[in-house]
Amino acid sequence: MNFPVSKFRTLQTPFYYYDRRLLEATLDTINKEASRYPAFRVHYAVKANVDSTLLEIVRQSGLGCDCVSGWEIQACLKAGFQPDKIVYAGVGKSDWEIRLGLEQGIACFNVESVAELEVIDQLAAEAGTTARVALRVNPNVDAHTHKYITTGLSENKFGIAMEMLPSVIAKIKTLSHVTLIGLHFHIGSQLLKLDPFTMLCARINKLQDEVEAQGIRLRTINVGGGLGCDYDAPDENPIPDFADFFAIYADHLRLREGQELHFELGRSVVCQCGSLIARVLYIKEGVNKKFMILDAGMSDLIRPALYQAHHKIEVLTSDSSEVTRYDVVGPICESSDCFGENELLPTARRGDLVALRSAGAYGQIMASNYNCRPIPPSIW
Ligand code: LLP
Repeated sequence: MNFPVSKFRTLQTPFYYYDRRLLEATLDTINKEASRYPAFRVHYAVKANVDSTLLEIVRQSGLGCDCVSGWEIQACLKAGFQPDKIVYAGVGKSDWEIRLGLEQGIACFNVESVAELEVIDQLAAEAGTTARVALRVNPNVDAHTHKYITTGLSENKFGIAMEMLPSVIAKIKTLSHVTLIGLHFHIGSQLLKLDPFTMLCARINKLQDEVEAQGIRLRTINVGGGLGCDYDAPDENPIPDFADFFAIYADHLRLREGQELHFELGRSVVCQCGSLIARVLYIKEGVNKKFMILDAGMSDLIRPALYQAHHKIEVLTSDSSEVTRYDVVGPICESSDCFGENELLPTARRGDLVALRSAGAYGQIMASNYNCRPIPPSIW
């Protein structure tokens, strides 16, 4: 990526830098590849990033949005998304969040339990309306990703177990203020192999047959998100392989006449367009190693500390032709505040600018005020 380094030199670090052109190119690719299949509809999982400029660009591209809280619904409405393009998922929806969705007439509530169905039915009755719902089913497919971001195994807290689906459908038939319009799935995030998605299609095909045997025709199937990004080689693979991803579903899922297939893509849409930009504060000589101490830390980008994730580290301003091994760390009082150990990087000095790449998804949005640090601003 060509960073505007001379502009960066004038700015206070740390900040998140977003590349508008890459985001637009990614969205164009998604639209081009999805439009090969008339039944496909793509929603952006806004949990990955709600920067207002980013949301505006996503909205202009025509994608809908997938929210997991009332606050996210508010952010999407503020960004100008139409309520009929908003779907709302989440294992614990509060009453005010359900009421907000009902008042706004959002497209669908993705429901995760019978207890929640009963509350939505009651709140919809009070509001004099009917809620469109999809049931989130836990398909028990192993996504082979980090245990914190796998969601489709039966021991996860998410979704309704497959064997419970018939009884939940029977229950819905007794509720007068909810209409079942679809089934919802999401097996996990940062999947680099596509086989689990093929497995998911097989599970859905079987479930659809069973649901139809209960006399229900579904308008939508929603397969969630999960497509991974190349964190090791962001310049070689700036845009994920959406063609292959969509083809899996086109080839393996038996959609019914008139049925829509919904996707909720988060990371794959915004990951590569964002970088966290920091300055080198100090090069500290340890006993056996050198530490590169940055002015950005785990409060700004928590993924390495939380998931042992690795973001490619690039020194943007070093004029040295030599390389040195560094442990690249932040200023926060935690040993887990480390972005990389033994990183072979151009020899750097105090004041050099550093980019932590592929930070557009689950970066700024997961930043915290730990150590009273502010959330890093966005630069476009
Ligand atoms: N739909 C549902 C129901 C989800 O739970 C998620 C992500 C998505 C869609 C979007 O998935 P994606 O396309 O981004 O894989 N903070 C973690 C990732 C957590 C993902 C949570 N759910 C990370 O930094 O890796």
